[in-house]
Amino acid sequence: MVHSFEAKVGIDKFPIIIGHGIFNELISFIKTYNKENIFIICDSYFKKSKGFHNQELSFFNEYNHVFINGGVESKTLPNFEKIIKILSQNNIARDGLLISIGGGVIGDLCAFTASCYQRGIDFIHIPTTTTAMIDSSIGGKTGLNFLEQVNLIGSYYNPKAIFMDLRFLDSLEKRDYYSGICEAIKMSITSDSNMFNRYLEVNNLVHRKDKTILEEIIYWSSITKLKHVTSDFKEKSTRLILNYGHTFGQAIETHYGLYQEKLKHGEAVALGITVAAKLSDLLFNTTNSKNIWEKTNEILLKYNLPNKFKKLGTKDIPETSQLIKNIINDKKRISNGNRYIICESIGKADIHLIKNDEYIIKAFNCLYE
Ligand SMILES: NC(=O)c1ccc[n+]([C@@H]2O[C@H](COP(=O)([O-])OP(=O)(O)OC[C@H]3O[C@@H](n4cnc5c(N)ncnc54)[C@H](O)[C@@H]3O)[C@@H](O)[C@H]2O)c1
Repeated sequence: MVHSFEAKVGIDKFPIIIGHGIFNELISFIKTYNKENIFIICDSYFKKSKGFHNQELSFFNEYNHVFINGGVESKTLPNFEKIIKILSQNNIARDGLLISIGGGVIGDLCAFTASCYQRGIDFIHIPTTTTAMIDSSIGGKTGLNFLEQVNLIGSYYNPKAIFMDLRFLDSLEKRDYYSGICEAIKMSITSDSNMFNRYLEVNNLVHRKDKTILEEIIYWSSITKLKHVTSDFKEKSTRLILNYGHTFGQAIETHYGLYQEKLKHGEAVALGITVAAKLSDLLFNTTNSKNIWEKTNEILLKYNLPNKFKKLGTKDIPETSQLIKNIINDKKRISNGNRYIICESIGKADIHLIKNDEYIIKAFNCLYE
């Protein structure tokens, strides 16, 4: 089955197509562009046609393209400059089209470049990881890491279309696969208790990469993320709910730097939502809040995601005081400093002002057990 629907993000509208083997849809979409005016940036994982099916391979070889490595080390200014040079050398004009094939890294890098090249050219996402399908390709955020800071440089820029071909997920490595699934679990905790219960039930199907369940999860995630970003493109209100657990996850990510081997982004989110669940329980102290804490731990275990530092398999574990410092530094950069996303019950999240760091310290302690 193919899901095809129109997304509305900010002032832009564009199609999202989800299915298995959707290259015919892609080819008919790009027909309106002059072939010489199209350029593809592709994750190097596919260099030796690993992970590509025959149809994709023949499509790919017809167009100008370059390979860039996935992994956060690639979201850099030198790679941005490299792509700009290549686009210019290939005479890609203002009415040209840039296509990214890859995970969140290639997607963020290409979307940012597309937003800048000739003051903005058309752009299509072809996400190839769970993170990119469930989260990063939707919402228009682009970014480069700079000065050891995640997404210090970036813009808001929507694609002209997103083509999510689930066949790409066949080759995805286990840790990358579950990291992306974590974003879907996180969204269900804040906005849909039925879907959360469904995730608790279908873990075995997800482990097997069952096509039907993956299509359901990716469709649900796209629709849910769109609901949050449609009315709040520049992240002033409802979109902030999507950051549940992120403040804590980011403080942990800052400790490990940009080295994904120790901690993937989705794993940081898993630790972050564990702390957020503990904080929710400390603040509300009700049957519902206890349930959040217990069920968050249960679901992370079911999906091979960490809920304690010892699960990371490294002796390099940050001190709580360091994590609090990282949060304070992070919060200094925004005007509404001490606001956190907290859940009252599963499916119901809100923004709360917490002035007392004691709660945050206690909540972080749950990761050291
Ligand atoms: N823009 C946003 O709103 C947003 C949201 C969430 C995350 N992000 C960003 O996304 C990035 C993480 O994305 P990611 O987890 O996809 O990382 P990634 O793009 O680095 O991909 C992870 C790994 O999988 C490989 N890979 C890609 N597709 C594959 C496939 N089909 N089969 C096998 N291997 C494949 C890549 O080469 C890489 O080694 C981070 O930089 C994060 O900041 C952005």
